[in-house]
Amino acid sequence: MTSRLDGPLKVTGQARYGADYNLPGMAYGYIVVSTIAHGEIEAMDVTAARSTPGVIDVYSPFDPVDLRTPSTPMFGETWVPLQDKEIAYYGQPIGLVVAQTYEQARDAAMTVGVTYHERPALTSLWDGLSSAEDAPPGFDGSPSSMDILAPGVSSIEDALQASPVVVEATYSTATQNHAAMEPHSAVAVWDSGGLTVYSGNQGSNIQAMELAAALNTDLSSVHAVNPFVGGAFGGKARTSVAAFLAAAAARTLARPVKVVLSREQVFTATAGRAATVQKVALGATGNGSLIAIRHDAWSSTPVDRSFVEPASHSTREYYAAQNLAISQKMVPLNIPPTTFMRAPGEATGSFALESAVDELAVALNMDPIELRMRNDSTAPLGKDLLWSGKHLDECFRIGAARFGWADRTPHGRTDGDWLVGLGTATAMFPAIRFPASVRVTLRDDGTAEVATSGADPGTGLLTVLSLVGAESLDIPPAQVTPLLGDSALPPGGMSGGSTGTASAGSAIMIAAAQVIDQLLALASSPGAPFAGLEVSYAAGRVLADGRAMTFGELLRAVNRPSIFAVGSSSPGEELTKHSFSSFGAQFCEVRVHRWTREARVSRMLGVFDAGRIINADTARSQIIGGMIWGVSAALHEGLEIEANGRLANADLAGYLLPVNADISGVDVHFVEYPDTLHNTIGARGIGEIGTVGMAAAVANAICNATGIRVRHIPIMIEDLLP
Ligand code: MOS
Repeated sequence: MTSRLDGPLKVTGQARYGADYNLPGMAYGYIVVSTIAHGEIEAMDVTAARSTPGVIDVYSPFDPVDLRTPSTPMFGETWVPLQDKEIAYYGQPIGLVVAQTYEQARDAAMTVGVTYHERPALTSLWDGLSSAEDAPPGFDGSPSSMDILAPGVSSIEDALQASPVVVEATYSTATQNHAAMEPHSAVAVWDSGGLTVYSGNQGSNIQAMELAAALNTDLSSVHAVNPFVGGAFGGKARTSVAAFLAAAAARTLARPVKVVLSREQVFTATAGRAATVQKVALGATGNGSLIAIRHDAWSSTPVDRSFVEPASHSTREYYAAQNLAISQKMVPLNIPPTTFMRAPGEATGSFALESAVDELAVALNMDPIELRMRNDSTAPLGKDLLWSGKHLDECFRIGAARFGWADRTPHGRTDGDWLVGLGTATAMFPAIRFPASVRVTLRDDGTAEVATSGADPGTGLLTVLSLVGAESLDIPPAQVTPLLGDSALPPGGMSGGSTGTASAGSAIMIAAAQVIDQLLALASSPGAPFAGLEVSYAAGRVLADGRAMTFGELLRAVNRPSIFAVGSSSPGEELTKHSFSSFGAQFCEVRVHRWTREARVSRMLGVFDAGRIINADTARSQIIGGMIWGVSAALHEGLEIEANGRLANADLAGYLLPVNADISGVDVHFVEYPDTLHNTIGARGIGEIGTVGMAAAVANAICNATGIRVRHIPIMIEDLLP
């Protein structure tokens, strides 16, 4: 157990986030956003803004900044503002006012007059269902729709009709925003070496690529820095509008520019999570063996169709069944764009699927855990490759014992004025790795450094780098300095897809082995302390002939301040041999007040099979955050979109997030089976799985407590009226 290395800096205010950088001569930019949801800008009157004291310049589609649409292998094209006069949603960035102070820029921005040619806007997912389009393939390239049918079965409908017990229902989930604590922001400065941008993101090397492409400049002259990131969750994967505009304005004005989105702007000028509508049908035998699974999903999508939340996609991975049909549709809407958000697809999809499984358990009068175990899968449906390791049964067994599941009754219990229910759900998240390079340096003062570009948006990756580095070099973690969040470092360690530890960790092991080889070659080279001897390495020391020297002593003896190696690792052959996923069992206890109908989650437990856990402290923290997010999705979060596309609750007063009073008793447990079939360090990633299934577990517990099945989230008091 190792405390977060950057924790003291963060809690004492010494950690400097992007917008904490202040540079001599810096100007401040404030963005202007649209007040219609669909149409074209006819004119923008910036006369008043330009004559406001302190204003330096005003940019708009009529007076644009020098930017073009960047494209990267990771994300494809990323939208950049002010390139045309088209309005696709209410709150879209359409201008930037730059002034001597933040307040001057903000005041001037309020005076910008905009006239529009307005067109009808489609802002409701339900209204848009009839114009849904087929979604493109999922993130992993697999088709967005598929049918797998047993021999002799002609359609999924036939398989459902032939099933003795069938449940079928429609579920829906709300539009969400990541609402990271740190608003999207950037400080940009150009000098003779090029551009430096300080801006929170999920991979500084990727941010540098996007900025270089958008600014039409060499990648080598863009330096992206994000030593600290105040939460990201997918919402800082792509480069923000703040960073694009700050960089472009700083180039034009030849002075540093800072742009910080207001909290309200974060809700519209960045992308969030899609709303979904999902239809699930499950057919089973009378003893609970699944015969057919059908999952059709519709997700809201931006009008440029740049992202689709794949809500039905992961359903093929959960259970064994002879017949499966999944489909994914997208519904382009005039609302703020959608993007990756913690467990994109799995979070929303598991609400529908795992609610439906609970409904089936009720229909069968069967324990929901027993039903799940009866249909345990050994591989994704339609795929021959078995899971590299799966201990979901153990997660449920341990979880049930720890949580007191045996005390659950089919209709809950009462405790004074509270109706108390227990709920459970399965969690799954694919185990993924991305290519990563890490530099490991040994220094003559006896310390080592582990460095990769990446980011630690609160995940604990920085601490993990030091731990894996220490283990690979066989030295105490205190001797290892981890470096992250700078595009000048070797590319790797992106914080997305729950890949950071597995990707960077594998590369660290390779780099460490290489630098140790170098050290041994140095140690036995002519004139060196172990010249001509057979040398070995252990515990940070070079050994031969009964003598030992630490690597620091050795480097000093040969007069080398430091040596380093860059190790790289990528996913490869293992993908042809196994399927890889993490698994978990979510439990929660909900109390619904008999009279007020408020729902309170009183206890939660998540038990996870996620391979080797590198650092129990930060891992637990990641999972707790995810589980709380599941509660939040179930009971609090949801953007209310007015007919004209305006978000009615785009601030932290109206967009409900759980506070301490909403959360009590979160218990996390890992069953630890290192997955060395997936990667050499055996870790599978835990960033996202904590949230998967939890919203369903809450809804299932509410049903257990009250008998009321709510098929949409967030669940409101009015949904629970008797
Ligand atoms: Mo995150 S949704 O893994 O960027």
